[in-house]
Amino acid sequence: MFSSLQNSKSLNSFQVLSTETPSNPYPHVTHNETFTIEGISYKLDDQTNVSPSILSKLSRKLHLQPHHPLYILRTQIEQHFPHFSYFNTFNPIVTVQKNFDDLGFPKDHPGRSKTDSYYINKQIMLRTHTSAHQLEVFSKMNTKFLISGDVYRRDEIDSSHYPIFHQMEGAQIFNIQNIEQEISKDKKYLISLNSRKIPLRDNSEVNDDTIISTNNPIQSCHPIEQVNFAIKHLKFSLNSLIKKLFINHDENLKIRWIDAYFPFTCPSWEMEIFFKGKWLEICGCGIVDQNILNKAGQSDKIGWAFGLGLERIAMVLFDIPDIRLFWSQDERFLDQFTDFNDNKIIKFLPFSKFPPCIKDISFWLNDQNFHENNFCEIIRNNAEDLVEDVKLIDDFVHPKTKKRSLCYRINYRSMDRTVTNDEINKIQERVREDIEEKLNVTLR
Ligand code: DAH
Repeated sequence: MFSSLQNSKSLNSFQVLSTETPSNPYPHVTHNETFTIEGISYKLDDQTNVSPSILSKLSRKLHLQPHHPLYILRTQIEQHFPHFSYFNTFNPIVTVQKNFDDLGFPKDHPGRSKTDSYYINKQIMLRTHTSAHQLEVFSKMNTKFLISGDVYRRDEIDSSHYPIFHQMEGAQIFNIQNIEQEISKDKKYLISLNSRKIPLRDNSEVNDDTIISTNNPIQSCHPIEQVNFAIKHLKFSLNSLIKKLFINHDENLKIRWIDAYFPFTCPSWEMEIFFKGKWLEICGCGIVDQNILNKAGQSDKIGWAFGLGLERIAMVLFDIPDIRLFWSQDERFLDQFTDFNDNKIIKFLPFSKFPPCIKDISFWLNDQNFHENNFCEIIRNNAEDLVEDVKLIDDFVHPKTKKRSLCYRINYRSMDRTVTNDEINKIQERVREDIEEKLNVTLR
């Protein structure tokens, strides 16, 4: 069964001490209202936008559930980095300072906006990435570590987007003076340098034509020779990881590297894999911003970091077609992954696909503030995991009034049963009421 708001068990770690009903995603917040989450009480303010349906999932911790595909993938990745420290239980409720400020995010970075991130109040939020813990882990003098956890972002709705997903952060830093010797202790790396090809998987292709240039420069404080050692080691570590994970995958593996930008690495890249006809971003990475290492008291070090998206990789590896399935509590899903041993990935056998129930909704915008993420959030709050995707199917401006009208198609479908038209009509009615009330639109 999918967890749902109607199911009081899914709310066990969450209480709203306010007069608002839990289904209201944007409670009108007055002075003394608080949330109590896992025993800690938080003041709400006008930045609060986190919803009960999101908070109810905080206790699930899928990456810690034995036999769950995300658990299996996490442990596989940990085996690739055997001498690292692993941190898997950091609290996803973090300060804005940790999630953004410590990592050098500019004040006007779009990721900070309420349309993109979930805030408990002005100072506290749900982490949007596992990088939020980098500084604290470096500050405890760790030099190689993996951090895995659930991360939260307001987003569109389709088969590969869900407001909660899992990331794995990895980092390794070396003594600047001694980096060549330190890296040369990594035997796998040396073998790969000599054979030019990593002998893990033959039917794979790595495409990397990125170059260091003014668009993606090295940091001015870094000596070029030392950075180059770190870059090569980073790319080796990730290429060999992906090749190992996909060693038994039937399709040929294509990996490519592209330039990227992150506020906390420089230079930065993204790694993509080719799957079902398109390039899928699975990882961001780069050379750690020296300011972070300096703040952490490790100014004599240089090194790399990455953040892997676990669902993306697991969907390809296990053939899981819809991201909502990771949250399924249906034994037909969970029991499929119990037989895993070392290199053998068990593919997901889909149970039958149940029929969809499609509803359109169209409305006039009364101001410029409409944001699709707010719209999707309202749908999720009412439909939970019964919504499969939401697509804009019409967008036009009336020639005379200049008013803009949008029409969205909402595809409702359960993954474990057939939904009735009646129940979907009720949900759709609540969605209609909520968007009219909260988004300043006029229904058509
Ligand atoms: N935190 C980034 C994200 O969520 C991913 C990332 C990029 C992590 C670069 C890193 C890194 O550690 O060095 O998009």
